[in-house]
Amino acid sequence: MVSLEHLFSPLELGPVEIQNRIVSTAHQTTLVHDNLPTDDFVAYHEARARGGAGLIVMEATAVHPSGLLTSHTLGGYLPEIVAGYERVAAAVRPHGTRLFVQLLHGGREQIAGPPRPPAIAPSAVPSARFRAEPRALAGEEVEELIAGYARSAELAAEAGLDGVELSAAHRYLIEQFLDPELNRREDEWADGRRFLSGVVRAVRAATPGLCLGVRLSADSPRAERIAELLVEEGVDYLSLALGDSATYLGSVGIVPPPPVDESAIAARTERFALGPPRIATSRMLDVTVADRLIAAGGAEAFGMTRALITDPELSAKAREGRVEEIVGCVGCNACIAHYHAGTPLRCAVNPRTGRELRLGPPAADRRRRLLVVGGGPAGIAAATEAGRAGHEVVLVERSERLGGQIALAGSAPGSAEVSRRFLANAERQLRAAGAEVRLGEEQWPEADGAVLATGARPYRDDEGLTAWDVLGGVIPEGERVLVADWGGDPSGLDAAEVLAGAGKDVTLAVASAAVGELVHQYRRNLYLQRLYRAGVRILQHHELAPGPVLRNVFAPELTIPVDADAVVLALGRVPVEVEAPPGIPVERAGDCLSPRSLEEAVLEGTLAARRVFA
Ligand SMILES: Cc1cc2nc3c(=O)[nH]c(=O)nc-3n(C[C@H](O)[C@H](O)[C@H](O)COP(=O)(O)O)c2cc1C
Repeated sequence: MVSLEHLFSPLELGPVEIQNRIVSTAHQTTLVHDNLPTDDFVAYHEARARGGAGLIVMEATAVHPSGLLTSHTLGGYLPEIVAGYERVAAAVRPHGTRLFVQLLHGGREQIAGPPRPPAIAPSAVPSARFRAEPRALAGEEVEELIAGYARSAELAAEAGLDGVELSAAHRYLIEQFLDPELNRREDEWADGRRFLSGVVRAVRAATPGLCLGVRLSADSPRAERIAELLVEEGVDYLSLALGDSATYLGSVGIVPPPPVDESAIAARTERFALGPPRIATSRMLDVTVADRLIAAGGAEAFGMTRALITDPELSAKAREGRVEEIVGCVGCNACIAHYHAGTPLRCAVNPRTGRELRLGPPAADRRRRLLVVGGGPAGIAAATEAGRAGHEVVLVERSERLGGQIALAGSAPGSAEVSRRFLANAERQLRAAGAEVRLGEEQWPEADGAVLATGARPYRDDEGLTAWDVLGGVIPEGERVLVADWGGDPSGLDAAEVLAGAGKDVTLAVASAAVGELVHQYRRNLYLQRLYRAGVRILQHHELAPGPVLRNVFAPELTIPVDADAVVLALGRVPVEVEAPPGIPVERAGDCLSPRSLEEAVLEGTLAARRVFA
């Protein structure tokens, strides 16, 4: 059994002791209604507390109506929030987990759709990412916001929370005051330190006896100055994150997907060893690495936020020596994609995340034999669910490997880690579920019921080379390759990157308004970065048309002759349908119903396994 003694030793954060060093850092759940926690919110956090997390910091909570990032942001200034916090605390506390809330004002950054409230900021400087155009705060409004922080902190204390965390991270309001590009004031708030100190002091005064921590972005040019000031102000901990919400590239760091390095934050913690404990967060995925880094003085505690979104029992499993049973975050960023879409928090790997009250543990009234056809994510999920429920499961996959499209995409730099981690989870989960896996098999054995999860194939794969062929290892002859991408799923982007890596001169013609419209913005930003750096020419708004030509999708009379040695098609997918075995109950799941993403495949596989014998 691996020793995790450092991770599982208690830590003092000012007046509050946490039982271990695993932290669920602030993350918006969209399990919020009328700016208050819902039952789903309570159940979500309770699951992470029951699973043994040392500390939960509830999500970014507005300190003033002008700071509601979206319509489903918690309103920390509302008197009704006290009862909401109390319900969360009553669920979390009995498990020994401490509960804090993060207080935040986004300043000029606004995620909300219309009608947007007026954006406010230290100065009137438009924001490049959310396209918000703020007005400068009047002096008395600055005072009012500080009072909002204090009032919100007071309500947190009234509810009996253990602590309050202020966000001075991600270039939200506090950091906007400290950025000379964004703070062009000439009044007493020209010195942004005054605002930060004002907020810290007001919150401290409103919450005597509570822990007070501050989050900052460790990769910000302002980070050291902020940290020094916080040490002078005597805060109880520093929460170190990454990222800048104001720019495309900076925002990637807020929830960095692979191929950003695992343990990305670890390289940035040293200069913040200034006294207060450091809670360091970003791509910490492995409890043994976290333990080692704590032992080496890299940080005093680690946020493992997406890791806990995926497996709420991570801490308990680690503590009990069941590290092998941890279901790992694959880094697909479906979680943050839900936030940006304004839909409740979900995890592509764990369908129970955010559905704690709706989707119970696997269960069966009696053991039956289930046939699962197809070894992609939907089939794997169905087999896992049924096996865990106690059924005898045979999974039949006609190719020689598990994983379907996610395995195929593993050859591309942008998908390699997601693929590797998904397959590692799958192997462990299928083994634990006792499922029999038959690869390279076309015959279907007898069974009492079946889940058909036969996946998809590329649209127009009979008309030429496809992105899937490239991902499967086929590199076309000739130097100049055109990838004709419809702009939805990432297979065209993956193929272009593989071809550039093979030394080809690649043009990526994309038929959509934006590149990779179904790829979450943080992954897409990194795809674009790598493709541009690899010298791939990106031609937007052009589709492949007879001729062959590239036709402008907005002005179809404008065409460009295709001038390439080879063309690779990425034109979407179509379902692979099979006839159901007769005489037994059958459910279908995933892409064979209509190709979509990993999340739908896993969810539908899970639900199909629960339904088939119901
Ligand atoms: C869905 C989601 C919402 C988030 N919301 C917040 C937030 O409200 N405040 C904040 O400081 N960070 C937020 N984050 C960032 C996380 O706290 C954390 O720093 C980030 O996920 C990187 O850590 P990880 O690699 O352990 O997931 C959010 C992350 C996710 C996935």
